Amino acid sequence: MQHKWKAVEGGGCAGVAGGGDQRRRCVAASLSMLIAATLAFLAYVAFFPNDGAGGLYRLWRCQDCAGELGEFPGDEAAAADGPSASRAAREPTTLSHVVFGIGASARTWDQRRGYAELWWRPDQMRGHVWLDEEPVSPWPAATCPPYRVSADASRFGDRASAARMARIVADSFLAVAAELGNNTARDEPRWFVMGDDDTVFFPDNLVAVLRKYDHEEMYYVGAPSESVEQDVMHSYGMAFGGGGFAVSYPAAAALAKAIDGCLDRYVYFYGSDQRVQACLTELGVPLTREPGFHQVDIRGDAYGMLAAHPVAPLVSLHHLDHIQPISPQGKTALEAVRPLVAASRLDPARALQQSICYQRGPGYVWSVSVAWGYTAQLYPWAVAPHDLEVPLQTFRTWRSWADGPFVFNTRPLSPRDACARHAMFFLSAARNGTATTVTEYVRHDAAPPSEKECDRASFRAASTVHTVRVIAPRMSESDWRRAPRRQCCKTRRTSWGSVLEVRIRRCGRGELTSP
Ligand SMILES: *[C@@H]1O[C@H](CO)[C@@H](O)[C@H](O)[C@H]1NC(C)=O
Ligand SMILES: *[C@@H]1O[C@H](CO)[C@@H](O)[C@H](O)[C@H]1NC(C)=O
Repeated sequence: MQHKWKAVEGGGCAGVAGGGDQRRRCVAASLSMLIAATLAFLAYVAFFPNDGAGGLYRLWRCQDCAGELGEFPGDEAAAADGPSASRAAREPTTLSHVVFGIGASARTWDQRRGYAELWWRPDQMRGHVWLDEEPVSPWPAATCPPYRVSADASRFGDRASAARMARIVADSFLAVAAELGNNTARDEPRWFVMGDDDTVFFPDNLVAVLRKYDHEEMYYVGAPSESVEQDVMHSYGMAFGGGGFAVSYPAAAALAKAIDGCLDRYVYFYGSDQRVQACLTELGVPLTREPGFHQVDIRGDAYGMLAAHPVAPLVSLHHLDHIQPISPQGKTALEAVRPLVAASRLDPARALQQSICYQRGPGYVWSVSVAWGYTAQLYPWAVAPHDLEVPLQTFRTWRSWADGPFVFNTRPLSPRDACARHAMFFLSAARNGTATTVTEYVRHDAAPPSEKECDRASFRAASTVHTVRVIAPRMSESDWRRAPRRQCCKTRRTSWGSVLEVRIRRCGRGELTSP
């Protein structure tokens, strides 16, 4: 025993039995530790007055300032309404925390249901299709979300449909609250996500986006329209409903209480999404913009927009029935989107993500851009990344079918000039590996085959490429918690020049992609 105590004493000041020298050293050491601790505490309090020691700090600071700052007694109570303290112990948000509410009409569901069936996973997801009346035919419960019939909104007259759709957040909330009430709810709901019957969600990316936000605070997440006309007419601060939007639990709870009053006050608005936004604005909740929600308020061919997606997860696509089929596969809009959806199941986080690289040959350079899971482009000349990331304007505006403006820049197509035309490749195959995916894109040129090709060495060499094969590591959902950065790639010609192989990887620190 004696020995053990001695050993401890040697390192510290616990004993008083040591010599005078040691006692002095100990007193000096204790004093400097005390001073250091005091300085650290003061520094902490100065920099983080509202954290941890804040209570003590406020007590000390406000001894003689009570009332001086004009603080209302209600302030503290209101602050207590904020997020709960359990934040640290929480599990990450998953699909089972998300409640979907899809606005639909009983008479058109059979024509539209293909879109919901693309993304709905009956065993993993929860929510309802909200119909205006009982469906006429048996409900396809195996492949579609279960349905509910919305409460009668006929008191809103010719605006009944918009009022009914605007109520869906509230109706979803009340439906879940009822389940919670009788203990039949699965997980605690964290987010209420609204969409139209023709919205295609990419559910894993939706969850990746929602995970960034604290669901115990009031959030309203979505995106405005691509169309300046639409944003001017409705609002730049509104999530357009077809692109889908997400409302956190406390925001949905507040909205459920307020919505009927709001519907009376905002009866003159055109859309349901604008009523929801008006009501959230009364609650002081602004739109949190996420560029992966796509209302697709454009006409014509969305190709250019989809081939240059922002560096953000693809969350939704809408209005596919109102634009040309997005790929040459399949005659219908639904068939044309299937390959992208299928590829996205192999690597959801990478869907539509753009990578840019350059292939150098004898005396020429090619620019290669991949929008993963959808398309590859080969430009037989040098195009800088700042151009390649700008959508080619293959589309027109939503309302007036004009050339613009859009809420992003566009660059013109030059389909007439063979020496200014790039080669296009569309997804033809996708294979799943253990840590990588291999996707192949076959050539699909816009120009009729009879037309003369550009007679330049780099174009002649490019004309032999019929497949772009992309090998990419599977991205992780956690990649989206890091700062956004486009990934890099490297090209190689194989199979006597008929295949252009593209290997995607994370860029190195400070790595440049220069033409
Ligand atoms: C629980 O409440 C929900 C919603 O009202 C209802 O559909 C369900 O049948 C109830 N379940 C039970 C066991 O009462
Ligand atoms: C792809 O492969 C990975 C790893 O083997 C596996 O975890 C994943 O479930 C597969 N995905 C699909 C859609 O088959």
